[in-house]
Amino acid sequence: MIILGIETAVDETAAAVVENGWRVLSSVVSTQVDLHAQFGGVVPEVAARDHVKQIIPVVSTAIREAGVLFNRIDAIAVSTTPGLLIALLVGTETAKTLSYIHLKPLVAVNDLESHAYAVWLGEQEKLEDIKDKNTWPLLYLIVSGGTTALVKADYFGDFEIVGQTRDDAAGEAFDKVAKLMGLGYPGGPAIERQARLGDGQTFNFPRPMIDSNDLDFSFSGLKTAVVYKTKELNENLSQETVNDISASFQEAVVDTLLTKTTAAVEEYRVKGVVVGGGVAANGRLREVFQSKMTVPVYFPPKSLCTDNAAMGAGCAYYYAQNKIFTGLDELAPFCYKNIKGEICKY
Ligand code: KG4
Repeated sequence: MIILGIETAVDETAAAVVENGWRVLSSVVSTQVDLHAQFGGVVPEVAARDHVKQIIPVVSTAIREAGVLFNRIDAIAVSTTPGLLIALLVGTETAKTLSYIHLKPLVAVNDLESHAYAVWLGEQEKLEDIKDKNTWPLLYLIVSGGTTALVKADYFGDFEIVGQTRDDAAGEAFDKVAKLMGLGYPGGPAIERQARLGDGQTFNFPRPMIDSNDLDFSFSGLKTAVVYKTKELNENLSQETVNDISASFQEAVVDTLLTKTTAAVEEYRVKGVVVGGGVAANGRLREVFQSKMTVPVYFPPKSLCTDNAAMGAGCAYYYAQNKIFTGLDELAPFCYKNIKGEICKY
C-alpha cells in the first residue's frame, strides 16, 4: 500500500510517499526557518503564505522522487492537528483537492501519534516486532515547538492524552530563551550548542509543576525565571554566562520532562517510551532518558524529529488498512479519526 503524506502544521511544508508503513520512497521538506529567523519565532501569517507558495511544488517533487504515478497511490494522509490553524488549512485543503481530483481516500493524522511513529520509519523489523500487542501499552512524549504532551498508547490508533503543557511548549521555551540571549532561531539547536560549553549546575532554574501531582507541564515560568536572571546579571552577558544559562536552562527542561515521564511510566505501567518532536533531537535529553528510564526508550533519527510528512504517511498505513478514512466533508484542522472511526477534536 502506497500513501502520500502532506504536512503543513507549523513552519515546514512537507510531502512524502511511504510504502507499507515503513519504506520511505521520498520525503521532501521545505523549511521556513530563514523566513521566521528575523522574528525569533514562527509568525502564523508568514507561515501560511509560504505554505501556499510551496505546497504544489513540494507535493509534485515528492511524487516524482518516489518514482510512482498518482494512480498507484492508495490514500492521502494529512496532518490535521496540532498546529497553527491557517497553516493547517493549506495542507488540509490541498489534500482534499487531490483526493477529489484523483478519487483517493483521505486519512486525517494527529501529529502526536505520527511524531512517535517516526521511530518505525525505515525499520521494517522493528515495526513487525511492535505489532505484537504484548509490547504495548507505550507512552509517547511529544515535545515540539508548538506542543508538549504525554500520550498513553494502547496500540496504533488507540491513544489518549494524559498530560500536556498549560502554556508554552518545551520547544517554544528553547526558542524564546535563545531569542532573549540573541542566539537566533530555531533556539533549540543554538541553546544545545552553547550548553555544551557551559556548566548546567551554575543556575538553579525552577522545575515547573514538578510537584503538581498531575502529568501537565508549564514552561512559561521557567522562561520568565531566565528573563529575571539575565536582568539581574546585567543585560550584557559574557559568553561564559550565556553558555552557563543555556546549560542550566536545558538541564531544567530535561529534568522536568524526565520527572513527568517517569511518573507517567509508573502510573500507566507502560512497557516503553517513545520520544518524538523537534526537541527529541536534543542530545542531553537523549542521554538522560537513555540512562535514567526504567523501561526501554526509543528516539527517531534526529532528521525525523522535526516536522516531516513521512511520519504521517507511515502512521496512516494502519488506519488505511482498517479502512478508517475521513470524508471530504469531515476533514478539517484540529479533527482526526480514531481507529474506531469516531471523529475526535484536539
Ligand atoms: O517538531 P517541530 O518541527 O515542531 C514545530 O515546528 O512545532 O519542532 C521544532 C522545535 C523548535 O522549537 C526547535 O527549537 C526545537 O524543536 N528543537 C530543539 C532541537 N532541535 C529542534 N530543541 C532542543 N534541542 C534541539 N537540538
